[in-house]
Amino acid sequence: MNLTNSPQRFGLLSKLIHWLMALLILSLIAIALYMDTLPRGPEKFELYDLHKGLGLIAIAAIALRIVWHRVSKVPAPIGEGIKLKMAHLGHIALYLLMLAMPISGLIMSLSGGHDVKFFGLFTIAGFAEKNESLNEIGSAIHHYGGQLLYVVLAVHVLAALYHHFILKDDTLKRMTSK
Ligand code: HEM
Ligand code: HEM
Repeated sequence: MNLTNSPQRFGLLSKLIHWLMALLILSLIAIALYMDTLPRGPEKFELYDLHKGLGLIAIAAIALRIVWHRVSKVPAPIGEGIKLKMAHLGHIALYLLMLAMPISGLIMSLSGGHDVKFFGLFTIAGFAEKNESLNEIGSAIHHYGGQLLYVVLAVHVLAALYHHFILKDDTLKRMTSK
């Protein structure tokens, strides 16, 4: 099993990063959706802290992913012409959202005057005074970015299934076993 990528296949490290980050991001979305339904109280704030702590891990993970994929280039998507272009665009959109979501979340929290705790290990102190405009920008990006992420992710998963079941190519297999 190769650690690095080749022009035709994903190496073990890229596969691990892809699936661990997929799990992380889907958990972040699930926690966000659930915490939104709770009334203000200790349970809601505990989940906020969990969402923020995991969100900080997402910042480190995406930085690592970008660095790794500069060192070991990922294979081009399988397909030609417009489909290949769409796959590239979809992946770029996912990278932009994986950066924009945690960074805007951090800006929104800190500029709103809220501390960001990392599982009791350290705390990033929120601004002493709330910065309204920065808070609004962070909040808008996090909210609309979240909506966009749902759509892009749905297309991403449907595209993977389309490749596997309809086109019957190696797209899904090379991200899992091959
Ligand atoms: C990849 C990382 C992240 C993803 C995918 C993500 C996703 C989401 C989503 C989908 C929502 C619901 C948004 C809405 O419709 O209002 C949300 C809410 C929230 N997120 Fe994140 N988030 C991430 C990282 C972070 C980070 C790092 C922080 C702060 C340090 C954070 C703080 C918050 C807060 C405070 C809310 C509640 C906003 C409100 O109710 O007004 N998030 N997040
Ligand atoms: C269960 C859900 C998921 C499935 C079935 C899935 C499937 C796949 C497959 C089959 C590929 C390979 C495409 C190719 O060969 O070109 C891929 C690549 C990719 N996926 Fe996913 N994926 C999922 C979740 C996610 C999530 C949550 C993210 C991030 C938000 C993500 C981001 C990416 C990116 C950026 C690539 C391009 C390769 C890279 O640069 O790492 N995927 N995915």
